[in-house]
Amino acid sequence: MTLVPDPPASLPRFPRDFLWGVSTSAAQIEGAVAEGGRGRSSWDVFAAESGRIKDGSDARVATDHYHRYPEDVALLKGLGVRAYRFSVAWPRVVPDGAGEVNAAGLDFYDRLVDALLAAGVEPVPTLFHWDTPQALEEGGGWLRRETAEAFAGYADVVAARLGDRVGRWITLNEPAELTLLGYGVGQHAPGRQLLFDALPAAHHQLLGHGLAVQALRARGARSIGIANSHGPTWAASGSEADRSAADLYDLLLNRLFAEPLLLGRYPGAELGFDVADLMPGPVAEDLKVISGPLDWYGINYYQPTRVGAPTESGGAAPAEFAGIALPPELPFAPREIEGYPRTDFGWPVVPEALTELLVSFRERYGDRLPPLVITENGCSYEGTEDEERIAFLDGHLRALHAAMAAGVDVRGYFVWSLMDNFEWAEGYARRFGLVHIDYETLARTPKASYRWLRDVLREQERG
Ligand code: FCB
Repeated sequence: MTLVPDPPASLPRFPRDFLWGVSTSAAQIEGAVAEGGRGRSSWDVFAAESGRIKDGSDARVATDHYHRYPEDVALLKGLGVRAYRFSVAWPRVVPDGAGEVNAAGLDFYDRLVDALLAAGVEPVPTLFHWDTPQALEEGGGWLRRETAEAFAGYADVVAARLGDRVGRWITLNEPAELTLLGYGVGQHAPGRQLLFDALPAAHHQLLGHGLAVQALRARGARSIGIANSHGPTWAASGSEADRSAADLYDLLLNRLFAEPLLLGRYPGAELGFDVADLMPGPVAEDLKVISGPLDWYGINYYQPTRVGAPTESGGAAPAEFAGIALPPELPFAPREIEGYPRTDFGWPVVPEALTELLVSFRERYGDRLPPLVITENGCSYEGTEDEERIAFLDGHLRALHAAMAAGVDVRGYFVWSLMDNFEWAEGYARRFGLVHIDYETLARTPKASYRWLRDVLREQERG
């Protein structure tokens, strides 16, 4: 990879009203987990269990954004982004998930929203970014329908408070990861290992999304989307076994959530089974709620995946992939992608796969596809002179522009992440930020990539 990136002015022009932003999430930055009346979350409990987080850390302090948000808002202003995607911590607002509302929790987001607006940055809250209230988790969490209903109640509470100033909302972040990593293989909270019995968690997140959309609309929300993770799936070879393993993986990552949302049905019939049959009912009625119109569809993109059939010995399947150990019982096995640079996390850097992904969405869903927004894209590298991150972002913005030039309607792009933060099971070892965090002092230091993005945005604003 070239380490001398092209100057910001050489990037192609994006539309005038393009929504430039950066993203974070509550559990990864806020800290202050026992302050202001916040209830416990599934991640508090999971991180406290020994061996769950690679570096033995937890997110009790994280970047201390709860106290330092004015400084973080100033960083957003200095960066020149139009929008900031953050998440509201459900247990901060409704400590037990349902029932009593915590006024101090709502006050925090109220102050944050006001500070953002005063800085000229549009607040774009995500209502759920994996921090399930522990009280609900103990009752089965997203495996239970009640959690979807409680989520809609919480969405209503947040919209009632912030809806006069927030127009654009995101319901869920990456339900695929929570289903697979949280309930399927246990690498994330709540640490369950249910394999395909985790599928009800997918259905209930989708239902929670649909019910929350109704609650938000009833409160006058202007623009609603969801942030799903997607990436092209490449078969390891042309063999039938590898191709069907890749099809199954593609179904779980790229279709399991998109098709109910966009087409009102579960995928799978053409692979010989219908996912709808594996879901808790009443599925047909729920699908009507789930497929209520979206104003836009958010895509979190990081990398493509190469997938093959598991081998007898398991030998060809790395025991660990992208930091995630996949159990040999799964009927697919990720394989190495060769020939591309890698981030410090080991993820391959393949910008053109973003173009491929976006074009494939347009081909798959045609007129059923609402405008797209890239709600996350970024990379983990050490160091504050992070030329690799600049090259990554430069390459992905060009790939995004190429998809737009090919006719895909994309309205915005959010970098993950504003600052280094608690990277889930990886702890603090992965640094995705445009701003460096010193975890001893919590000092914030803009990296070279922050200055580069600031210059890109200035150029783009020049029109
Ligand atoms: C995504 C998550 C986000 C962050 C990035 C690196 O899957 O939504 O919170 O961890 O990956």
